[in-house]
Amino acid sequence: MNSLTKDAQKAAERVGLLSDKIVINGGKPLKGRVDVRGAKNLATKAMVAALLADSPSHLLDVPDISDVGVVTGMLGAYGVSVTKVGEGELLLDPTNVLKAQFHEIDALAGSSRIPILFCGPLLHRLGEALIPDLGGCRIGDRPIDFHMDALRAFGAIVDKSYEGIRLTAPNGLKGANIELPYPSVGATEQVLLTAVLAEGVTELKNAAIEPEIMDLIAILQKMGAIINVEPNRVIFIEGVEKLEGYTHRALFDRNEAASWASAALATKGDIFVAGAKQQELMTFLNIYRKVGGKFDIHEDGIRFYHPGTPLKPVVVETDVHPGFMTDWQQPLIVALTQAEGRSVVHETVYENRFGFTDALIEMGADIVVHKDGLESVTRRVPRRPLEQAAVIVGPTPLHGADVEIPDLRGGFSHLIAALTADGTSTVSNIGLISRGYEHFIDKLADLGADFSFED
Ligand code: EPU
Repeated sequence: MNSLTKDAQKAAERVGLLSDKIVINGGKPLKGRVDVRGAKNLATKAMVAALLADSPSHLLDVPDISDVGVVTGMLGAYGVSVTKVGEGELLLDPTNVLKAQFHEIDALAGSSRIPILFCGPLLHRLGEALIPDLGGCRIGDRPIDFHMDALRAFGAIVDKSYEGIRLTAPNGLKGANIELPYPSVGATEQVLLTAVLAEGVTELKNAAIEPEIMDLIAILQKMGAIINVEPNRVIFIEGVEKLEGYTHRALFDRNEAASWASAALATKGDIFVAGAKQQELMTFLNIYRKVGGKFDIHEDGIRFYHPGTPLKPVVVETDVHPGFMTDWQQPLIVALTQAEGRSVVHETVYENRFGFTDALIEMGADIVVHKDGLESVTRRVPRRPLEQAAVIVGPTPLHGADVEIPDLRGGFSHLIAALTADGTSTVSNIGLISRGYEHFIDKLADLGADFSFED
């Protein structure tokens, strides 16, 4: 069994998914309603923030996904009790924080990238932190240099050992002036979670300003933090002495919402995504409209549907917020295989995020990946050396194939491709999808997908 399959099986077990292989009879439009709850990329960080408080926190709309299970395990290893007190409701009690045992941390190695965010809170609470080797999707090198440089600027000492990363702060953590080389989401969160209890003021330049980060800042403010978000990606954090627990409803998962929207377009379907909101999806909605996709915005969600006429090609560049998210391109590319003409997707955030297109090509798509990138007339940001581009020429009918899911978002696009394709497909490693898509099997059934499981 290869390590990817092992990751997929571990993730599947965490959410009680019984089989890691699904057989799909495609060619039928997905129609109906799906409910989207809290964002993976906020809920997991909000759980880490609970560790900073002296009293329990109450998080609402927590999705039932395997990454939440990993963070629950990590918090448990450090003595934070995480109790499910209702549907999607967690009570996180950090009053008995203690040093973790190596074997408990080691059991979580390779499962997610969230544990890196425990560094600052653990240094504040315990004076030291042990972080396992990280996991997450294999979409590039995914270094942690920005994180470690920021922690050192606060006064942390970082040692790498066979156990993972060990950090200490013999002289405590002090506010710092930090400029990120790139507006990294994780490094911005690292700085926020460390600066709120550090002594003095922290100035963070070139910060990421994704909606999930703004929601994390809202949580930290509820806890007693003082954080000012200034123009031009500058954030000031005034350290405080103590923080209290929060009560917060997690921001909806805009990546999941965009994924179902693209599924509606690719399969000629019609999906009402309950819980989706316009504000956080504006950039996505603009591209959706350019491709020809229709949407109606309601109080309680957004209806996404195929126009009934041919789709149009588009040029898209992924970017940090407020640009087009890198997590939106994979499902959209499936829809673009059905558009009339030549689309180009420039990936500027990760250096290896088109691996999933191999399976689409096997299913009949006409996609060429340019590993060194292509020039674009619509460029919003200076070129990064790691850029890649995919050229998609459509429309191409897709046919069933046996495909193996490589990562979370690429994996969801394989599901959509199999649902769009004529004939039968076998999709394996679906456990990886449960890292970020809550109850996706039930949702597919509700949308009328024709599938069964294979052992
Ligand atoms: N980077 C560095 N050094 C660092 C940190 C980042 O070079 O120390 C580079 C990365 O290699 C990448 C770029 O900076 O090329 C952006 O990475 P970022 O730190 O912003 O990403 P992340 O925090 O690791 C989060 C999401 C990703 C999402 C990105 C971009 C979580 C748990 N993950 O990752 O989500 O794609 O931001 O928005 O929040 C997903 O949900 O499937 C997923 C991969």
